[in-house]
Amino acid sequence: TAPLDDRALRDMKQRGEKIAVLTAYDASLASQCESAGVDVLLVGDSLGMVIQGHDSTLPVSMTDMIYHTGHVARARQRALLIADMPYQSDTTDELALENGRALLAAGADMVKLEGGGALIPRVKQLVDNGVPVCGHLGLLPQSVNELGGYKVQGRDADAARRMIEDAVALEAAGAGLVVLECIPHQLAARITAAVSIPTIGIGAGAECDGQVLVIYDLLGMTPGKRPRFVKDFLAELGPGMGVNAAIAEYVRQVKAGEFPQAEHTYQ
Ligand code: KIV
Ligand code: NA
Repeated sequence: TAPLDDRALRDMKQRGEKIAVLTAYDASLASQCESAGVDVLLVGDSLGMVIQGHDSTLPVSMTDMIYHTGHVARARQRALLIADMPYQSDTTDELALENGRALLAAGADMVKLEGGGALIPRVKQLVDNGVPVCGHLGLLPQSVNELGGYKVQGRDADAARRMIEDAVALEAAGAGLVVLECIPHQLAARITAAVSIPTIGIGAGAECDGQVLVIYDLLGMTPGKRPRFVKDFLAELGPGMGVNAAIAEYVRQVKAGEFPQAEHTYQ
């Protein structure tokens, strides 16, 4: 069967069927995600932190992203495959198009860019030139220095209004999906209602059309203090259960609307 496309995901939103997304960086975990029913695989630039051990995503290069996208693409069967555009890979229209095409050539179906506002014409340029785009609003890890740390975004009325406008503009520019990271769940619900493309939340509450987690967080492999939105599904299942069962339980809870709960959510 052909992989899911952005049309199929939009139909899921319309039907009210939740979309289960996980990051993947290698073929083995990507095939575990496939057999557990994950709808979208994201080769996130979070690999700079969880694979490479950096303390931000800023050091990740296009070479890194192409390398990991290839690994995941070889294991992909049904899921839509999104690859992140890494830091400063999209600073001009020309560069963004060249790098977006390189990620498609490595096996991605769609590329993800962080930001709204002035970036939105660049999103349109990519889509118009055959590079499908996923937007990313809220906490933008590539802008961690400008944001003054990993903090909840969109808390004041002005920022919330701008984020809704950005989401609407991303849809108008042709984006097929939009990730919402670390925003109050009420704002995520307003954005989800304002666009017909699916919203995929991380720390954005249960009203989003889908959810995404970093796969190592779901498997309890994150050292140190965990963000509020993280849940260790492997530990929850208890002894004797494995990686595939934990991923399948994540998919089940997302589809059933059981994850995230209020305890994983910002007000
Ligand atoms: O890089 C990543 O893993 C991401 C998700 C957290 C949305 O961008
Ligand atoms: Na990312």
